[in-house]
Amino acid sequence: MCGIVGYVGKKSVVDILTDGLEQLEYRGYDSSGIAVMCKDDIKVYKAVGKLKNLREELKGHENEFASSTMGIGHIRWATHGAPTVLNAHPHTCNCGNLVIVHNGIIENYKELKENLIKLGCIFRSETDTEVVAHLVARKYSQCNDLTEAVRLASKDIEGAYALCVMHNDCKQKLVITKRNAPLVVGVGLNEFYAASDVPAIIKHTNKAVYLSDNQIATLTPEKMELIDGDGNKIEPKAEILPWEPVALSKMGYKHFMLKEIHEQPDVIRNILVGRLHAPDENVVLDEVKLTKETLKNLNRIQIIACGTSLHAAMIGKYLIESFCGIAVDVEASSEYIYRKTVTDEHTLVIGVSQSGETADTLTAIKQSKAKGSHILIITNRPDSAMAREADSLIPVSAGIEVSVAATKSYVAQLMAFYLLALYMAEIKESMAVSDLTSLKAELMILPQKIEQILAHKDDIQRVAKCYANTKDFIYIARGINYPTALEGALKLKEISYINATGYPAGELKHGPIAMLDETMPVLSILMNGSVYEKLLSNSEEAKARNARMIALTNSKDEKLNDLFENIIRVPDVQELFSPIIAMIPLQLIAYYIAEFLGKDVDQPRNLAKSVTVE
Ligand code: G6P
Repeated sequence: MCGIVGYVGKKSVVDILTDGLEQLEYRGYDSSGIAVMCKDDIKVYKAVGKLKNLREELKGHENEFASSTMGIGHIRWATHGAPTVLNAHPHTCNCGNLVIVHNGIIENYKELKENLIKLGCIFRSETDTEVVAHLVARKYSQCNDLTEAVRLASKDIEGAYALCVMHNDCKQKLVITKRNAPLVVGVGLNEFYAASDVPAIIKHTNKAVYLSDNQIATLTPEKMELIDGDGNKIEPKAEILPWEPVALSKMGYKHFMLKEIHEQPDVIRNILVGRLHAPDENVVLDEVKLTKETLKNLNRIQIIACGTSLHAAMIGKYLIESFCGIAVDVEASSEYIYRKTVTDEHTLVIGVSQSGETADTLTAIKQSKAKGSHILIITNRPDSAMAREADSLIPVSAGIEVSVAATKSYVAQLMAFYLLALYMAEIKESMAVSDLTSLKAELMILPQKIEQILAHKDDIQRVAKCYANTKDFIYIARGINYPTALEGALKLKEISYINATGYPAGELKHGPIAMLDETMPVLSILMNGSVYEKLLSNSEEAKARNARMIALTNSKDEKLNDLFENIIRVPDVQELFSPIIAMIPLQLIAYYIAEFLGKDVDQPRNLAKSVTVE
């Protein structure tokens, strides 16, 4: 994680850097820093904590950088070394002539550091990044060419990195490179921007060049020169970014999370456009590049993902297995990559990731690709590293998601799974046409149902407040909503720091029931369908242990009033679609509790939105 920015051009650089870093705060906020080419030499400014502290730090120094037009910046999610000023980027070489910002992890930093110390380098921080500053500086002293120095240094580095480098000798030159970490160059008129992600540059330009691994770009106000790791020239290919700057505004909502929750009806409409025209028409999913024959004969699917995307994957398994009868395994990418898997060329591997950059999922994808599997990626970022590995790519088009806690991207991922499962069921003819038609009809009216829930959000807020001061929270569900319970609990713990846990309700009696007493809220995701009665019994069991029972339900059953102290009612829906309908109130509960507690909803402690370290 971490976010880096760079600028070289004619404009005043400091605001460009700090504004850019603000857009990258979702990647971490342990510390931040910038290095600016001032009149005589490079000056470095750093602060611990959020970007506002750096802005404070910069006050009073305006005269030093008033006319500066080149600089680099960094926002940190600490990996090596505590979040202190010394460990904050940018880092410098011994003499301070060379400065560097880095996103990623240098895996061989210990051995590089030992060698550099022997050569006289003095280390001031505990970071892995500082070795790169010293290493590039040493190469520079040998070749006197910053681009070549970066190229030579990158040969010695193992691990993941995106780097921006400046040197006092080069008053109008930035050198940037990357391997296994994102880096995009924004192309303006007589100016270039570098950033870990599009939000940092989209306000300035929508023309961009994505660097491939090991490429090195040399940026001056006039031109961008690109070479590969062997020094061969490459013609940069610019593309037009699909993002709108307006996506980065809160649009009047108090937090991005609340705005993004409200965007979900439109997110569903967007993903359906061009893919599902009418209930009696087939799903169009041209993005799936497997032949119909291969799809018909497919008998194993492996889905890999992390965090919220993993919960979407678990529901995806349920859908594909019940619609198509194909066996599906789901595994956390971080587990999948460190064991002997039986994935092969007969397995369809589906990677799910909002960011498309999560290191564990990316590694898992690369491993399965090497074993010959067809790789299908479901992501919100069709411009991401994972998308570039894909044989088939389903972009979920949720629009940029700023809040660290994923909401609309989750619902969009679920939609991708509904479409995929329906598409495969149509090809395999594994379901009756009338059932397919009824499912598609319901899918198309989900946005209105979500709008009904959002229209009554005050009721949900009222219920949420009753539980804001609890230390623990249990969510129970069964069947297709077991992952909904996990995701509801994850949302709450991410942003409120309440110890929330999701359980398959049938497991309650095998241990968790010991936790129950009159202080414990238990939220039962009680949706009409095959497991309704079973879950009701499990809720009774919890009630018998005096737990504070809450129902999230689409049942009209009056008896529920006796069992539950609070009931959140949602519109009726077929059981298979209940994960989408149930998720909206759960997101709102988490939001309202965190907001009531005064937590930093969009940027919860210790988290980052894009986790590019394993
Ligand atoms: C981080 C985020 C989570 C996200 C997970 C996986 O931990 O904070 O919200 O679910 O990464 O990210 P991905 O981009 O792969 O979906």
